[in-house]
Amino acid sequence: MAKIVGGITTSHIPAIGNALSQGLRHDTYWERFFDGYTPVKEWLAKVKPDVAIVVANDHGLNFFLDTMPTFAMGTAQRYENADEGWGLKTLTGFDGDAPFSWHMIESLVADKFDMTICQEMRVDHGFVVPMTVLWGEHDKWPVKLVPLAVNTVQHPLPTAERCFELGKALRTAIESYGEDIKVVVVGTGGMSHQLQGERAGIIDTEFDIECIENIIHDPEKFTRLSNTEIMERAGTEGIETIMWMVMRGALTEKVKVVHKHYHAPISNTGAGVLVLENMEE
Ligand code: DHB
Ligand code: FE
Repeated sequence: MAKIVGGITTSHIPAIGNALSQGLRHDTYWERFFDGYTPVKEWLAKVKPDVAIVVANDHGLNFFLDTMPTFAMGTAQRYENADEGWGLKTLTGFDGDAPFSWHMIESLVADKFDMTICQEMRVDHGFVVPMTVLWGEHDKWPVKLVPLAVNTVQHPLPTAERCFELGKALRTAIESYGEDIKVVVVGTGGMSHQLQGERAGIIDTEFDIECIENIIHDPEKFTRLSNTEIMERAGTEGIETIMWMVMRGALTEKVKVVHKHYHAPISNTGAGVLVLENMEE
């Protein structure tokens, strides 16, 4: 049977991708931030997941304001990358796992999560930046990928609570798959940031750190926040942190913290990274 080997969360700031392609890993601005990923890479090298489910919002590449699914999952055997406007280098595409995707969608829909089914899907910085910062850059990626898109762009957005529940249904879906594969769930986006308007540039470090602790130890507390409350504290794009709750919902009630790191600012954003493992239940 498929097994969840752990969960990762990471910000997906486009500037990270540019810093990596420009060789700025050890630049003063970037060094502490990238150091925060060394233990994650070591963990991945040890655990070697076969498939990563990457929870990322689409930033206008596949879906725009005219047609915006709340939750969408890729069912393709291949996902190509495109830059939706940040000037990022386009990377080699990713192999999918179509049978696993279809199994998860069957299970999720039966569990009342009516996913939009994407037999074709391209992936933008929200997906690709986490991939490169976690796995490095590859022509042939060492994991198969399943993109799970959450609408964090066109209101009304799903709540943190709904994302947490989706994560729980995702766990049922993963653990009922008959193949012996090791699965990691990656929640991307956040933490606090706002890219436009009068409050552009706000970062609330205290709120971000509180969120990290709640997501680890008391995710129910995070689910009690309304989207308005999250955006008031974390900025309009800070709402992306609800995608971390999909990852958290897929794990056991209590979790082992393998690694946590926070660094602000990177670009306009509070950048957090977490690695969690299941506790035996
Ligand atoms: C930035 C952060 C994001 O999450 C994003 O999607 C785009 C830009 C930033 O901080 O620059
Ligand atoms: Fe984003």
